[in-house]
Amino acid sequence: MKTNYRSAEWFYGRDELGMGHRAALRTMGVDVEAVKGRPVIGIANSWSELNNCNITLRTVAESVKVGVRAAGGLPLEFPTISLGEEFMKPSAMLYRNLMAMDLEETLRANPVDAVVLLSNCDKTGPAQLMGAASANLPAIQVNGGPRTAGVWHGIEIGSGTDLWKYWDEFRTGKITERDWRDLEECLSCSAGACNVMGTATTMSAMSEALGMMLPGTSSIAAGDPLRMLAAEASGRAIVALAERNVRPSDIMTPAAFDNAIRTCMALGGSTNAIVHLIAIAGRLGIELPLQRFDAIGRTVPCLANIKPSGEHLVHALHAAGGVPAIMKEIAAQLDLECVTGTGNSVGENLRGVQSSNAGVIRPLTNPVSPEGAIAVLWGNLAPGGAVVKTSAATRSLLEHIGRAMVFENYQDMLQRIENPDLDVDGDSVLVLKNCGPKGVPGMPEWGAIPVPAKLQRQGVTDMVRISDARMSGTAYGTVVLHVCPEAAAGGPLAIVETGDMIRLDVPNRQLELLVTGEEITRRMTHWRPPTTPHLRGYPRLYIDHVLQADLGCDFDFLRPKSAEELRFVPPVVGRS
Ligand code: FES
Repeated sequence: MKTNYRSAEWFYGRDELGMGHRAALRTMGVDVEAVKGRPVIGIANSWSELNNCNITLRTVAESVKVGVRAAGGLPLEFPTISLGEEFMKPSAMLYRNLMAMDLEETLRANPVDAVVLLSNCDKTGPAQLMGAASANLPAIQVNGGPRTAGVWHGIEIGSGTDLWKYWDEFRTGKITERDWRDLEECLSCSAGACNVMGTATTMSAMSEALGMMLPGTSSIAAGDPLRMLAAEASGRAIVALAERNVRPSDIMTPAAFDNAIRTCMALGGSTNAIVHLIAIAGRLGIELPLQRFDAIGRTVPCLANIKPSGEHLVHALHAAGGVPAIMKEIAAQLDLECVTGTGNSVGENLRGVQSSNAGVIRPLTNPVSPEGAIAVLWGNLAPGGAVVKTSAATRSLLEHIGRAMVFENYQDMLQRIENPDLDVDGDSVLVLKNCGPKGVPGMPEWGAIPVPAKLQRQGVTDMVRISDARMSGTAYGTVVLHVCPEAAAGGPLAIVETGDMIRLDVPNRQLELLVTGEEITRRMTHWRPPTTPHLRGYPRLYIDHVLQADLGCDFDFLRPKSAEELRFVPPVVGRS
């Protein structure tokens, strides 16, 4: 068992400093002698009144502390910035890397031996895993859980997914103003994360699949008392991880990332998971090329019958056995030897697990869709790749040739999309530029361009849409996203013109602009990058250093470029 903890250098190192540090602990009511030789467990709390999805985390933190103390650790809770998808504009994604830096540097600068990461809303989970991977102190994650489902007109309402669906019905006059107001109340039924297989649910499931969150806990509802027990168990588990010095780099191995990608495909996970998993892996020097996602996607069927790919909500997934039951269905394709935060291997964690509802967690013999949830496309329109969530797309549009209607940016799209004279029909391909990582900046979830109301009235429910933006994990449709390189970085998307023909061929993984190479070259010579109003501060730093979507949109200076950089731990001695 480890006793020479990192924190001891603060409290029992050089005398004149140790005395001051011990005195500081005493001011918080901590009996320093009573905790001598025990690990200091940081609790990184992303609670914020600017983030309704994470609003329950104060209570979760108290239960974590109970577990930490019971196991003999000293819990010290600290705040981090929080990223609330609902309020942050233009996108919480812009600040994911900032949150990761906040966490990494807080851990590095303070007497913390291990950390419990409290997350929930979309970007808070991956930001914490990125920061924890870079700090590489023992870590475990606890999420806040999904919110309760409201019932409207006898229908269980899924966050986001049903909002997009009924927004289309409202703007085409199919439901009334009164219905729309009632729906708003339904969506406000409890705190917690979106209750469909959106990005928050997907990334919490990824944390489980990687081994960074206790198995079976990510889908426990925000208001379920079992969540407090999970938090307490996580508090005990982190002390054990600290004692055995099991670090994120021991858990998040290349094999663990493969397990996570397979689980993502079986869950019908969010396309955002691709960007985030690449970014987390990159912090550990692990390359996850888009080809890896596509290859795995071809071999793992979508099994979770959860919106937006399926019919049910996350509480049904939990009742059917949660993420472990999904992993059990695909166990033959997983590396069962991977170490997890429980101290046991994936295989040991899955012993005795089974799905209790074959309608919610489908067996391999009756999948929701035969291939995984997400496909990766390449072609002259996306030399660096693009993604499409096939499980939430219209089958008949997966092979499609159509005439492009181009919007130069998001404002252009908002101004023109409902113009009755817009020259589009159901076969048109809607193209949105300049919404990528550098473009806005922050690559907002603007990729699900609305189907024009005039077409919806004609019965068109889905169209091929292409952009360098992301899409909410709660959304659906035949939406090609993350086109790489983005338009603002000079990718071919920048020179697409209205009237060009575009071919989408998902079975052959192709996305082609049907324009000659000479014409593409001619247009590129006249292309100039868009101007940006961001001349200073964090948005400027972001534009200057963000990597493209195929590298996870991390900052270039945060990915270790050598084994030496990866192993570098700044010395503590001399801090005062
Ligand atoms: Fe926060 Fe969906 S908006 S989890």
